[in-house]
Amino acid sequence: MEQLDFQYLVSLNPKLSKYYDEKLNKYDFQSNDAVILLTETLFITNLNLDVHISNDRLCPRYFNRLDYIYFIQELMEGSSLSPESKYFGLDIGTGQMAVYPLMAVKIISELTWILATDIDQISVNMALKNVQNNHLSEKILIELVDKDDNCFRAVNQKDTDDAVGFTMCNPPFYSSIWEMQSKRALKQANEDRETVVGTNQELIYSDGGELGFIQKLLKDSRTASKKILWFSSLAGNYHTVKTLVKEFDSDFNYGIYEFQSGLTKKATKRWIVYWSFQFLRPSISLFNSKVCAPPFRFIMNRKIDFAAAYTRIRDLPYLEISTDEDLSVFVKLPGNCWSRSYRRKRQQNSQKRTKLDGSCWFEVVFYQDQTLIYWKYGQKYQTFESFCGWLNNT
Ligand SMILES: C[S@@+](CC[C@H](N)C(=O)[O-])C[C@H]1O[C@@H](n2cnc3c(N)ncnc32)[C@H](O)[C@@H]1O
Repeated sequence: MEQLDFQYLVSLNPKLSKYYDEKLNKYDFQSNDAVILLTETLFITNLNLDVHISNDRLCPRYFNRLDYIYFIQELMEGSSLSPESKYFGLDIGTGQMAVYPLMAVKIISELTWILATDIDQISVNMALKNVQNNHLSEKILIELVDKDDNCFRAVNQKDTDDAVGFTMCNPPFYSSIWEMQSKRALKQANEDRETVVGTNQELIYSDGGELGFIQKLLKDSRTASKKILWFSSLAGNYHTVKTLVKEFDSDFNYGIYEFQSGLTKKATKRWIVYWSFQFLRPSISLFNSKVCAPPFRFIMNRKIDFAAAYTRIRDLPYLEISTDEDLSVFVKLPGNCWSRSYRRKRQQNSQKRTKLDGSCWFEVVFYQDQTLIYWKYGQKYQTFESFCGWLNNT
């Protein structure tokens, strides 16, 4: 939980004192106006962004939004093949203040531009104003889109050069007014909860709430599979994440990141579901959820002799190998070179490099009583599984 120094914040913006009880050191998170004033203050003091937030639309919670941006930064840094890599982004459903684009351009220095879409004309107008007021119109583009459109149409129509793309989204949460009212009534019974004000359009997606929206994103994302390296969406419900994970097949390149941010004692847990149609697998630090085991890590609960394993791996054909002080081995292979079928095909065609399953990269980490194998790159889970089985027989 973030701890704020309200006395300091009040000294920067005396208007906050109206909602701050100095004796109890308590800020009035129940008041939407108080939350807005605090959010505007945090944007100007922390990011030098002068934003105006209207009280009839969703007020983005500063720390929660910031955590998603840090996640994107780590995801893209971990995926960049060169230090000079430049990124572009797409924020689907940017809301009244283009919160993610504004934060992203301030924090991610490699971000060259970001496109933001929304279906609400009033939000688009307000977001444009916030972007213009901060002189960021060259980097942040805002577009009104149709609710039935492919969510990636706007970015599909753009010339993206050689840059690498990511997409992000905070989808409408509820599936109906009834669901919204009943869940809110439950929350309001809890005193510590912050008040959340928003329009029905911001909060409701009638075709299945956030789960339905993410399923639409998944379906639409296939059309942008070459342009975009990582697609992602926030999810606020564990059931959403569990359902999605069940639907993903073993070859699907995805990750789940869990985080908790907020200013009240009972900060809500959130997840980021992210996926790619390319073959670079995510870093293990970005798969911290208990919803399932990371599908790109294999744990052997026994120590494997490093020297024996190293020799065995080193003798594979067409291998690129690097090691880190007897602790890990990183290998790049053109296919499942450890299999009999690969050797057979090689013999049949001994002069040429055989293209079987395509490239695969693995990292093997040796611990005292455990050996971990990470799938770093590749298309087929079966290839990863087969490599793990082969090494397990060392
Ligand atoms: C939960 S709000 C998130 C707003 C903002 N990104 C934030 O984090 O505070 C969801 C937003 O998605 C927009 N939206 C709903 N359906 C959309 C669609 N098909 N394409 C783009 N935006 C959409 C809504 O108008 C709303 O602004």
